[in-house]
Amino acid sequence: MTSAITEAEISILVDTFYAKVRDDRDIGPIFNAIVGDWPHHLATLKDFWSTILLTTGRYKGDPMMTHLQLPLDPDHFTRWLDLFSETAHEVLTPSHASLAIAKANRIAQNFQAGIAFQKSRRP
Ligand code: HEM
Repeated sequence: MTSAITEAEISILVDTFYAKVRDDRDIGPIFNAIVGDWPHHLATLKDFWSTILLTTGRYKGDPMMTHLQLPLDPDHFTRWLDLFSETAHEVLTPSHASLAIAKANRIAQNFQAGIAFQKSRRP
């Protein structure tokens, strides 16, 4: 049996991923326009992934509501997921990378469904 992902791995995943995101030509500007306090944002994201991957319950936010208020389109999600997958394969074991990528894909699908529904109600 493979061992569970650790908080240390989650921390490296989040730090490495958002370092790439901030520099990215397509999605970097969205983050850099909105996120003022990066240490705080990274801490929130570590709580989020700890809650998703280790069910620690540390994250208490409402990410759907956050993303419904952002100017996101399908290309942004494609880029986000490509960068996430690339980073997960770089810093995690193959099985932990697969797990994190599967969760990210599912959450991204939920966000996109929420955004599409919102658009359909407010043409
Ligand atoms: C198109 C792709 C995405 C973009 C451009 C994006 C952008 C952002 C931005 C700018 C924020 C900061 C919002 C603020 O501080 O007001 C944020 C927060 C967050 N994002 Fe994303 N995001 C994307 C996809 C995702 C995905 C797929 C996930 C999860 C797998 C995710 C998880 C989160 C979480 C947990 C927060 C923190 C919300 C909170 O403050 O409680 N994001 N995102």
